[in-house]
Amino acid sequence: MWARFWPFMRFVIALLILVLLGGCAPSEELLGEDLYVRSCAACHALDGNGGIGLNIGPGSNTDLNLTDEQIAGVITVGPGNMPGFPRLTPEQLSSLVAYVRSLSQ
Ligand code: HEC
Repeated sequence: MWARFWPFMRFVIALLILVLLGGCAPSEELLGEDLYVRSCAACHALDGNGGIGLNIGPGSNTDLNLTDEQIAGVITVGPGNMPGFPRLTPEQLSSLVAYVRSLSQ
């Protein structure tokens, strides 16, 4: 009985493992908004209005005075009490900068 189902069960188990691993994959695939919600919103709020972190929304210093390069620098280095995010991929970094920009529109 089991012998007959084993190939199928092996397939199911392999599939389960893949799904489970996928579920806890590191945040490497997150981009833009998802990344912001996961890594930034706790301090800067979902809408960018700030809280623990500075206001980075409309009319803020980020909106008015920082270039894209400077925002990317802030994210990588983490000034003052902000943690740095040096392990983001270049794609993640630019998607975050674009998302931060979109918050002030
Ligand atoms: C633990 C809280 C915290 C987290 C998490 C955090 N920040 Fe910050 N952020 C701060 C603080 C505090 C400052 C002000 C730092 C300073 O200049 O002293 C700041 C500053 C900034 C600034 C510059 C503001 C300005 O006008 O000078 C930007 C842009 C920014 N954060 C974006 C982000 C992004 C994007 C993320 C997610 C990748 C993030 N932050 C995650 C707390 C945080």
